[in-house]
Amino acid sequence: MSSIPVLVAVAWPYANAEIHVGNLTGSDLPADIFARFHRLKGNQVLMVSGSDAHGTPITVRADAEKTTAHDVYQRFHAGFLDLFQRLGLTYDLFTSTHTANHFQVSQTVFMALKQNGYLYTAREMQWFSPAQNRFLPDRYVEGTCYICGYDNARSDQCDKCGNLLDGAQLINPRSKVDGSTPELRETEHFYLDLGQLQPFVEDYLRTHESYWRPNVLRQSLGQMTTEKLRGRPITRDLDWGIPLPIEGWEGKCLYVWFEAVIGYLSASIEWARLTGQPDAWKNWWHNPEARSYYFIGKDNIPFHAVIWPAQLIGCGTTFDTLMKVHQPSTLNLPYDVPANEFMNLEGQKISGSRNWAVWGRDFLDRYDPDPLRYYLTANMPETRDSDWDWNEFFQRNNNELVATWGNLANRVLAFTYKHWNGCIPDPGELRNVDLELLETVEDGFTTVAEHLDAVRLRQALAEAMRLATEVNRYLDTNAPWFEIKTDKDQAAKSVYTALCAINYLKVMFAPFLPFTSEKLHTYLGFTKPLFGTQTTQVKADSLGEHTVLLYQPGECDGRWEAERLTPGSALQPPQPLFRKLDPSIVEEERARLGRKA
Ligand code: MF3
Ligand code: ZN
Repeated sequence: MSSIPVLVAVAWPYANAEIHVGNLTGSDLPADIFARFHRLKGNQVLMVSGSDAHGTPITVRADAEKTTAHDVYQRFHAGFLDLFQRLGLTYDLFTSTHTANHFQVSQTVFMALKQNGYLYTAREMQWFSPAQNRFLPDRYVEGTCYICGYDNARSDQCDKCGNLLDGAQLINPRSKVDGSTPELRETEHFYLDLGQLQPFVEDYLRTHESYWRPNVLRQSLGQMTTEKLRGRPITRDLDWGIPLPIEGWEGKCLYVWFEAVIGYLSASIEWARLTGQPDAWKNWWHNPEARSYYFIGKDNIPFHAVIWPAQLIGCGTTFDTLMKVHQPSTLNLPYDVPANEFMNLEGQKISGSRNWAVWGRDFLDRYDPDPLRYYLTANMPETRDSDWDWNEFFQRNNNELVATWGNLANRVLAFTYKHWNGCIPDPGELRNVDLELLETVEDGFTTVAEHLDAVRLRQALAEAMRLATEVNRYLDTNAPWFEIKTDKDQAAKSVYTALCAINYLKVMFAPFLPFTSEKLHTYLGFTKPLFGTQTTQVKADSLGEHTVLLYQPGECDGRWEAERLTPGSALQPPQPLFRKLDPSIVEEERARLGRKA
């Protein structure tokens, strides 16, 4: 099978809050599982994201804390890097939108759209605070949603019904700064001409209709066929962000949503430069064989399935021309946008401000990363909202992770290590039962892969678990611990077979449970790791210093294939892969919820 370029594009978290389990299961974790799977398959993976550093989400928080937007962004960005490393997310590059490179790439996209006639200017009414003598864009104004009646809608988007809003139509508006009632004043902005781009976007969506998730289609193609798209303003009266690359627009910035999505492209370019192969980004953006997958939460669907494709289509080949790319080309459109629904917590919506959340870093202070990855995958909101339940976490950890998979690996390894001198036994000729088991488990390289390829991660994990159960059943029947008392040769066949099966399962579990698969890999005697390593690096450009996460592929042994173990080769002393949890954690953890930090 030939290797293909796979772009794994992950939603850029706003650098204004810590990341919780709902965010992780929504986008970061599915992206990493998918990326690791393709790394094991030998595909050319580029997984990029970064901190979304601009716009009112950041400035509103800075105002509230009486600090600078830059300070807010840097503080949360540092926390993201720490969390992602601890959770083993293999971003090839996790950067931020506050870099000179991103400024330049975003301004170039703006110029390309402008040159191609897809931007126009218009005057619109915008909320203004007379007391503060300033405009109040987006999150600075809250009020009642004119579509669904929710009374805490922000002027740009309603969290209840998910619609993007026309701010001026908000009912009972109030300023987020001082609660005062703003008034409408006229201001001038650039607009993306979605009406003109709509036919192209529709054509594009139709070619992907057959395999996209229904919720994504509903919020993109579905809406488009019933109404005509209107132009959207892509600039704001705000000074924290990316300035317009033209004169006479001082004091205005590119809208955060217009430039953040451009981050997928700018981060690919930054990654190429950082790794000393400045043209390499084209492998994912020009090559027609390349596939790009966008991992996002459902509130991001319109921006990724309609507006971002429109921006890319509108660029034509002009982006490349302006960037002085040799042989200008068009840019690849998203191949899939496997958006997830939301995860609730103990039956209620996750809320940072009420501390009704399980925070990623806080969780990892008390528990290991793989159990978190396991539970979040088994419960991933792929087709409907799901719920984090501490009792379920406890049960799944002890009854599935420890009992079905961890104990299986541990008891076979420990038994072999003890009775065969720390080496893999020579089985001689395998029996039919042995060959049948190996065939069953080997099939997982096809069935688990089919689910992973189609981004059905829950089912992929369930399938790998089912195969682990098969191996347990095989061991219960053949019981080498009894066989050895009468016939060590027979026991050697059973043990060798089980070890091979575990070696296969190690690979199938690796995208989900990379830390423990890596450990198991060493216990089985392998010396090269399955995956590369993740490091942080400090970079400097004309905007100052920024720290990034960078993945180093290194010399790895990970392959998505059934590799039989070599009889006689040495094992390493095994340790249990997972910890059994005490039932008391359930009430302990529930008691933390909602408590003021
Ligand atoms: N910051 C946005 C959010 O947290 C997501 C942005 S995704 C991007 O909802 F692609 F636009 F960056
Ligand atoms: Zn609404």
